[in-house]
Amino acid sequence: MRIDVVTIFPEFFAVLDVSLIGKARESGLLDVRAHDLRDWTHDRHRTVDDTPYGGGAGMIMRPEPWGEALDALIGPGPQGEPDPLTGPVVVFPTPAGEPFTQAIARDLAEEPRLLFACGRYEGIDQRVVDYAGSIARVRELSLGDYVLNGGEVAAMAMIEAIARLVPGVVGNPESLEVESHEDGLLEAPSYTKPQVWRGLPVPEILLSGHHARIEAWRHEQRLARTRRVRPDLLPPSG
Ligand code: 6GU
Repeated sequence: MRIDVVTIFPEFFAVLDVSLIGKARESGLLDVRAHDLRDWTHDRHRTVDDTPYGGGAGMIMRPEPWGEALDALIGPGPQGEPDPLTGPVVVFPTPAGEPFTQAIARDLAEEPRLLFACGRYEGIDQRVVDYAGSIARVRELSLGDYVLNGGEVAAMAMIEAIARLVPGVVGNPESLEVESHEDGLLEAPSYTKPQVWRGLPVPEILLSGHHARIEAWRHEQRLARTRRVRPDLLPPSG
């Protein structure tokens, strides 16, 4: 999978060189390229932002550098024009977007190419999103109901969630199946050695060797935890 990122802080994305994602990049499974939006400016000050029409606080990212970046990275399809079906999915991380979920991560993990467009300041001129939608498949995605200073940290979180679902990136694919959010329930608590630590024992059932009973216990734990901290994930019950 190839992932392009357009940002005014390409150096943030150096963290993707380490850990699992770094290994996947070394092995060629993942090709992540961070581009500096200012490379598509033409003025002496490499300006990317301006004041909002209609008034209001903060600065908005001007459309011109974004237009050039999208044209350069999306490129023409086989017929000359960009083909929304064969080109990358363009992701705009924004707190005003649709909630990013494990289901969306699974969808995006099947794409050969993604392009993350990271806005700073109070956002990007909306025409950039509209233009992108005319040449590519676009998703405006939010990490959750809180505000970050820009799309960079959100893009990194989404890239990690997506990349680990690309076949081969996570060594043991079974470890992907028993996780929170894969089947609608949070995961059960887990334990390792020592059997007693600071007076706290591991739940006895886990030492019993009764696999069916252990699975039943884990399922109960998952239900109880989900009911406690994420009742919104459970079907409504009377
Ligand atoms: Cl995707 N971007 C920004 N700037 N803030 C956020 C977010 C995204 N998701 C939650 N807060």
